[in-house]
Formats: sequence, structure tokens, C-alpha cells
Amino acid sequence: MESAVKTIGVLTSGGDAPGMNAAIRGVVRRALGQGINVKGISEGYDGLIYDKIFDMQAKDVSDIIQRGGTVLHTARCPEMLTEKGVLRAAETCKKHGIEGLVVIGGDGSFKGARELAHHGINVVGIPGTIDLDISCTEYTLGFDTAVNTALEAIDKVRDTSASHERVSIIEVMGRHAGYIALWSGFGSGAEDILLPEIYDYDEEKLIDHIIENRKRGKTHHIIINAEGIGHSTSMAKRIEAATGIETRATILGYMQRGGSPTCRDRMYGSIMGSNAVDLLRDGKSNRIVIFKEGQFDDCDIDEGLAMKKEFPINQYEISRFLSSSYTK
Ligand code: F6P
Repeated sequence: MESAVKTIGVLTSGGDAPGMNAAIRGVVRRALGQGINVKGISEGYDGLIYDKIFDMQAKDVSDIIQRGGTVLHTARCPEMLTEKGVLRAAETCKKHGIEGLVVIGGDGSFKGARELAHHGINVVGIPGTIDLDISCTEYTLGFDTAVNTALEAIDKVRDTSASHERVSIIEVMGRHAGYIALWSGFGSGAEDILLPEIYDYDEEKLIDHIIENRKRGKTHHIIINAEGIGHSTSMAKRIEAATGIETRATILGYMQRGGSPTCRDRMYGSIMGSNAVDLLRDGKSNRIVIFKEGQFDDCDIDEGLAMKKEFPINQYEISRFLSSSYTK
């Protein structure tokens, strides 16, 4: 079957996420294998606006499936929010014969892609963000690696927390979403998980919980705090003052975004990259490759951006029940 597009471009945009390289490899190898040329675009939409474009061959994506970050480099690009920026990006695509574009990133990146679609470029998005905060898909590249990285770090802090019989607040990333906090908190058996979707900012309740747990014989207390709530250091000071128990805050930060991707991120990245090319080959545009109900699928960008996903409060409740049913 003849491809609807002869040349496609690929870029990564927004925060880097483990699995982006697997997706780039998937795009490049799937396209070249079907006779479609591939142009790499460096530094996200900046690269489109400022013409940082190069031809990609199969060997250019050798030895990257296991690497974190993105070999194409990435950027957050405020210019892409302007009509002038979008026009320049569309012109660069036309200059290089880029008829189809794969954008690997988050919701903000898909908004830019949607604008390019309005200017005649066929676009397909691949969800890549450690935050899992894209509503139209149940999986976003990087999440699995990030929660496992966070979990490993929390386990280490737990050793010192247990040895010193402390309260430890560990702040994890996620921007406004609590998925990384929920999963890493659940997986580490944390006593409290503070999630932007649920937390009522009732610090007295939190302090009572710490005191109750001490009375019940728990010798240390782990609190996973989501970035969307933040203020872990001042929270630690208030908790120490109120309980008299040594309390320390650790903010995990960017280490959660790096590192070698898990098998899931490599496999899903490769499949999503490959599926994105097939959509462009078939003449589709304005789509996002998604994972839903155990299947890879795709949806319209506008519909995807308008969706809201339900936060799994029941999972939080199970975690809370299990860490609270404790007696000496
Ligand atoms: O979206 C990924 C993420 O790491 C968020 O968890 C965090 O809020 C944000 O990016 C930080 O962005 P920046 O790299 O621009 O500081």
C-alpha cells in the first residue's frame, strides 16, 4: 500500500521522559522500513521554528532504546503558543517537505500539534510525560520508569527514617497531578500520601495520624507529598514542632525524570512510535496514539484534549486502609 506521506518529521517536546528514545527509534525504523523519509527535529518546537532539521537513518537510532532522556533534545516553547510561531513552524515543515509530523510530549505539545494540523501538516501525538496526566490515555511514556525510580529512592530514605525513628516527608514530581505520588506511595507502604486531587490541607489531621501511629507502635512514618501540594520543608518543620518527633523532608526532583527506561517504557514507546507512523502512512492527521483498556488505539487531538480522567480514589483508599490497619 502506498504511503500518503513521503517524508515525516519527529520531535520531542516538553519535559523529557524515559521511553522517548524508544519511541523515536520506533518512528524512524518503522518509517524507513516502509519507504518513508524521516527528518529529525532538534529541541522540540524551537527546532521547527528555527530550522534545526536533519535527515535520520536507521543507524542514528542504534543503541538508544536503553537510554533515558531524548537524543533529539527537548524544550518548552512559548513561541508555539503564538500565531507567528505556528506559522514559522509550518513554513519550516513545508520547506523540508515534511508532510507528517510525530510529536512526542504532553498536552501542551499536542496543542502545538493541533495548530500545525490547522496549517495543513498531518500530525500525530505520542503521550510522553512522567506525570501520567494526559486524560485520553491510560499510559504515558516515562511514568513506569519514574515511579520505580521514586520507589527505589523512597526505600532508601525509609532505611534512615526507620533507623532514626523519624517522620520523613518525601516529595515526588507530577506537576498538578498525583499519579506518581499515589503509585510510589502505595508501593512503598507509606503511612500518608498527600495528593492534589484529594488532600484537604488539614494538617492537624495529619499530625494526629502521626501521633496515633506512634501510640500503636509504629516507630517511623513516611509521608509521600505530591509536587502539586509542595512546601515539604516547611511542613516538616511544623510537624516536628507539633509532635516533637524529628521530621525531615526530601525533595526527589529531576532524578525521577532520568535513567534507563523500564521494559514497559521501551516496549510501549516502540509500539506507539510504530503506530504513529502507520497513522501518517494511512493519511490520518490530528490523532494521538493512546493506550486504553489494554489496547493501543488512537483518538482525535481535540477530543483528547477536552477529556477529563477520573482520579482512582479507590486505589488511594485501599492504600490508606492497608497502612492504617496496624496494631502492636
Ligand atoms: O512534566 C514533567 C515534570 O517533571 C513535572 O513533574 C514537573 O512539574 C515539571 O516537569 C518540571 O518542569 P521543568 O523541567 O520545566 O522544571
